[in-house]
Amino acid sequence: MDEDNIIVETRDLTKDLQMGQVTIRALRGVTLQVRRGEVLSIIGPSGSGKSTLLGLIGGLDTPTGGRVLIDGRDITDLSERELTRIRNEKIGFVFQFFNLLPTLTAEENVALPIQVARKRPARPAQRARELLAMLELDDRLHHRPSQLSGGQQQRVAIARALANNPPLVMCDEPTGNLDTISGALVMQALHDVNVQMGTTIIIVTHDMDVASQAHRVVALVDGQIADEYDPRSSAQRAGLEVLRRERVMSSEGAVR
Ligand SMILES: Nc1ncnc2c1ncn2[C@@H]1O[C@H](COP(=O)(O)OP(=O)(O)O)[C@@H](O)[C@H]1O
Ligand SMILES: [Mg+2]
Repeated sequence: MDEDNIIVETRDLTKDLQMGQVTIRALRGVTLQVRRGEVLSIIGPSGSGKSTLLGLIGGLDTPTGGRVLIDGRDITDLSERELTRIRNEKIGFVFQFFNLLPTLTAEENVALPIQVARKRPARPAQRARELLAMLELDDRLHHRPSQLSGGQQQRVAIARALANNPPLVMCDEPTGNLDTISGALVMQALHDVNVQMGTTIIIVTHDMDVASQAHRVVALVDGQIADEYDPRSSAQRAGLEVLRRERVMSSEGAVR
């Protein structure tokens, strides 16, 4: 693979967690490359190490062994301060429970990371409104999280993740707290972001329906990669994908 096309690379990544006398081997040597512009799903049973892997790739946690490279830069031994900078510039995070600030409006939630960025654009509020418009929330700018549905809150969270135009967005169970239709709309939003902005997206999920919308699926079992496949390679899956899109579009019509 052409090195320039690789945005994330892990090399023999391990993570041990000490629980009193017991050592839990959360990751046991994960080697993975993610291409620029790829949508990658990471699946696996509960406890298989998905969140641990995402946290290590995102520089939220440090590995016991192995290396993590983001955009060609080895982040494994960086200081907390340097890691924070890489996170702010390169990575947007989307979590299962949205993690929006309850006292801020949608627009303020999205503008906040722009305001704290080092290289801030001239008008954070305007940028926030543009992102929210892209996620079809232009009529919800001044709503607070409690005034929004779960799916709308998650789309605000996606807009916030995109605030500083990162090349990489990482989502941990982004549809885990949503009903099927809201989840489908959130997935559609992530795919639109991928297509329109070229953003690389990594999605951790235990939902096969969600996972199979990615360009590639990596399955973790007991902290190791057990399987890897292209979910769109079979015609049957492609047919299902078309059906799903139609369902999403008709449900969107119903929402408006
Ligand atoms: N903070 C923690 N302390 C102790 N054990 C943990 C902690 N976080 C995760 N683990 C353990 O590490 C393993 C992997 O967890 P995790 O990455 O959260 O799995 P997943 O996201 O696939 O459900 C599990 O055995 C889990 O119990
Ligand atoms: Mg998890």
